[in-house]
Parts: sequence; C-alpha cells; structure tokens
Amino acid sequence: MTRIAEGVFWVGAIDWTRRDFHGYSTHHGTTYNAYLVLDEKKALIDTVQSSHFPELVARVKEVLDPGEIDYLVSLHVEPDHSGSLAQVLALCPKAQVVTVERHGEQGLQRYFHQKLPLVTVKEGSTLSLGKRSLSFVPTPMLHWPDNMVAFLSPDAILFSSDAYGQHLATSARFDEQADLGLLMAEAAKYYATILLPFPAQVARALERTRALQPKVIAPSHGVMWRGHLPEILEAYGRWSRGETRPRALVVYDTMWHSTEAMALAVAEGIAQEGVEVGLHSLGSSDLSDIVGDLLEARALAVGSPLLNNNVLPRMAAFLTYLKGLRPRGKIGAAFGSFGWGGATAVKAIKEDLTLAGLEVLEDELAVRFSPTQEELQACRQLGQKLAQKIKG
Ligand SMILES: [Fe+2]
Ligand SMILES: [Fe+2]
Repeated sequence: MTRIAEGVFWVGAIDWTRRDFHGYSTHHGTTYNAYLVLDEKKALIDTVQSSHFPELVARVKEVLDPGEIDYLVSLHVEPDHSGSLAQVLALCPKAQVVTVERHGEQGLQRYFHQKLPLVTVKEGSTLSLGKRSLSFVPTPMLHWPDNMVAFLSPDAILFSSDAYGQHLATSARFDEQADLGLLMAEAAKYYATILLPFPAQVARALERTRALQPKVIAPSHGVMWRGHLPEILEAYGRWSRGETRPRALVVYDTMWHSTEAMALAVAEGIAQEGVEVGLHSLGSSDLSDIVGDLLEARALAVGSPLLNNNVLPRMAAFLTYLKGLRPRGKIGAAFGSFGWGGATAVKAIKEDLTLAGLEVLEDELAVRFSPTQEELQACRQLGQKLAQKIKG
C-alpha cells in the first residue's frame, strides 16, 4: 500500500515478470493500479488482473476490511482492470459497481455473465463520498469505448485509467522516484501501441485533463505523475498532433541477406545527409518496440524480399499492424530483393504504406538475387532522397 494523500491509497499489484501484454512486449513488466479512497463512503477504483487478486486484497486489507467498501468504480472493462471485479465483490457485500452508461454497463455484463449491482454514470456525473467527491469524464477509445476517468475533489487527483500509463514494474509509485528517460520511453511505447489510432480522442481527453488542473495523475499502469506532470502532458500533446522529429527508421526482413544489405545502404544514405536513423530487422526486433520507435520518426523505409509472390510473413504482420495504427504525417519508401517475380514485394509494401497513411516515394527499388555495387549505391541514393525530404 502507498499513501497518495490523506485517505487516498495505491493498492494495486506489480506484475514483475510479465513480458507479453496481449501481444505487446513489456520488457519491464507492468502494474495494475487500483486506488482506495476513504471518506464517509469508501471507494475502490478499479481492480487488477485476476491473477493478481490476492495481492490486491492484501493491500486493501492493510487499510480497511474490504467489507466496508461502498463503491467499486470500474473505469475500464478490459480484464487487466476489471478482471477481479467479481472476486472483489464477493468480499464487499454492500458495494455497488460504478461504470459508465455507454459501453461500460454492457461490457461488464458481457464479461461476467452475472447480475452485477451496477450504478451508471455519464459525462458530468458526480459521486459524493462525504467531504470528497468523484466526478466522471468519459474518454472513449483511451483505450476502449467504455473508458472514463475520475477526478477526486478537492484533492485534485485524476484517476486516468489507461491514459498516461506505462508498462513498468517498479517499486517507485511516483514519477520523481523513477528514471525519467525510462518513464517517457515506456509512456511513448504505450501510446504508440494502444493510442496511436485515436489522435482526436486523445486531444479531447488532454484538453479535459488540463482543464481539471490535476495535482496528481494516477493511471492504471505504471507510476503516478506528480513531479513530471508538464512533461507527460506536453508529450501527449505532441503525439496526438502527430509531431515528429528529423529521424528515419529502416525496417526490413531478409532471407539471404540481400534485402539486409539494401537496408544497411538505405540507412547509410540517410545518415550521409546528417539525418538520424534507426534500423530494425524483423528477425530480431519485436513489432511493439518498432512502433514505439516509429512514434516520433518522420520517415519509414521498408524492405522485404519476395516470397510466394508476396512479402515475407513477418513483414506482412508488420504492415498489417501499421495499417491498423495509421501513423500520421510520415513519409514512406520501399525496397527489396527477388529471385523471380520482379518488384511485386516492393509494390505490395508501397500499397500497404499508402493504406497506412504514409506519403510514399515513387521509387521502386527492387534487385534480383543480390545487389551489385551500383544497386547498393541506388539504395544509398534512396536513403538520401528520403533524408532530403525529411529536411525539406
Ligand atoms: Fe485497456
Ligand atoms: Fe490497461
């Protein structure tokens, strides 16, 4: 248990060893944050993934008998936060479950298949706890349609659910206790993997957050923002506006190192123009790390050899992911090798990059079997062209 303010506690769970969060890599584990507010009425805000239910209960019991809880506020239906709701309810006979009217009520019923003691709230609803109150703001698509945030007055603590979260298992509960570089990198990867397709919704939620002037932002994953509030809000502003910096990413897959040689030459060309470049092989980088890295990059060059008249399967996965995320304001380029079948893979990459919303260079750089020195020079030139476009 960690005390946040008088009568307000963190009672969540730390998942130190989790390395895969429904397909996203979580190299530093994660936390499922739950919060307890004590007043005349006692409220538990969110639960934890069911695997960590005993940890939640142990932390709650450090503060009070769970049977005293009046409200169980569910800010998000996803099972990492509502997963132990039924188990918690079994310990809190008088508790009512507070959920958002739109999508929350139906979502919880669909997950639990049992009659829950639900109270629904909507935009502007306030729940009095005594001297304190919780007011609710729906934040749809941050990260599901049912998401909402709760603002505790007069403490000015914003329980923000998935917004402003980071997958980071740490003994630090507050931002100033952790390494800021690591925090921001994890916040960026979190944003890129779950919030990137919803810039308008993020911008709206950010505006609401700023208007509330919170002193603490308590998200459902990672540390609470207190000392570095301006930094995380500023970063969310930048990311939701699709702001990038002069940096290019080269992402490729390869069979016999021909496309790899091309990728290295494209990267070299980018660097020759004085533009920062990063390079990922799909054989060694996972997709969530790549999209985290892509968040602030202005350009993306993608390369694949041709296999069975298509791109390599790992490249197909990357391009599918990219089309779903729809990154804004980025320039794309494609290249690749083939044995027979020509530039088919390169054409397919260009098509997918266009569908993902990138402005794609016309060039169709495809080489047969293995690149010659001249063809590697053409790859460097493609890199240079991309870099000039970034600078321009
Ligand atoms: Fe979520
Ligand atoms: Fe979550």
